[in-house]
Amino acid sequence: METRPFGKTGESFPILSFGGQRIVDEHNCTEEEAIEIVNVAIDRGIRYFDTAWIYSDGQAETRLGKVVKHRRSEMWIATKTWNTSRDGARRQLETSLTRLQTDYVNEWRLHNVWDFARLNEFTGKGGALEAAIQARDEGLVKNISISCHTDPQILVEALKRFPFDSALIAVSALDHFILSFVEEFLPVAIAQDVATIGMKVLGLGSLTHEVERSLRYAFGLPLSTVIVGMENMQQLEQNLAIAESTG
Ligand SMILES: NC(=O)c1ccc[n+]([C@@H]2O[C@H](COP(=O)([O-])OP(=O)(O)OC[C@H]3O[C@@H](n4cnc5c(N)ncnc54)[C@H](OP(=O)(O)O)[C@@H]3O)[C@@H](O)[C@H]2O)c1
Repeated sequence: METRPFGKTGESFPILSFGGQRIVDEHNCTEEEAIEIVNVAIDRGIRYFDTAWIYSDGQAETRLGKVVKHRRSEMWIATKTWNTSRDGARRQLETSLTRLQTDYVNEWRLHNVWDFARLNEFTGKGGALEAAIQARDEGLVKNISISCHTDPQILVEALKRFPFDSALIAVSALDHFILSFVEEFLPVAIAQDVATIGMKVLGLGSLTHEVERSLRYAFGLPLSTVIVGMENMQQLEQNLAIAESTG
């Protein structure tokens, strides 16, 4: 698979990365299947794994952790805090580290900043960004990130407030013409060498009749990597085949 540099981190990742939200019971994925999918993904070259404190009451992080325990050095782990306050976010980070069976995460994100009020809570006095900076000083978190699905201008403003290392953005082909992260945010991020991770390239599953074209659209964008939610081995194999024949 083609690899691309990940912002200023010095790391490079394959264009296809793993969205870890779907390896849970509610997506008909058993724990045994989840562990197998993640192991095969690593064996086939995937290195970047995205998850979050809030996914499925912790089941997504806990299942990923069962592989992290054995293969930590092969995996880049990104998780997120939903809580906007410094103290609440810190508690979520500690829970995430326990579930993930590791003593650090490569990336920690302020999760789903859907409006400017939420951005203010995250970045204001006593906000989660203070917890992120402290955790980075302590070595619990290596890079600080932010994610947004709704309005690219929220992230443009976020980068004025703090030099985030990366941003997770919605880039489905369906979103191209309104509130486009590709048009409004990607050029800003690239100019500042901020790593970018594309998500929702299959429109939360609504583009599954056009998997190949959707993935090729996303891989064709100047993103650092693209995460796709995968809940069974067939999806992993199909998405790997598309990524391996891109470039
Ligand atoms: N930051 C945030 O706020 C946030 C929010 C949401 C997601 N995320 C992250 O972004 C990742 C990606 O987003 P997503 O999982 O929500 O959406 P997505 O990648 O757009 O869609 C994933 C869904 O598409 C289907 N799919 C994937 N590969 C397929 C294939 N080869 N053939 C047929 N169907 C296929 C599966 O759904 P079905 O089999 O059910 O159709 C899968 O669950 C998540 O896993 C998560 O890590 C982050």
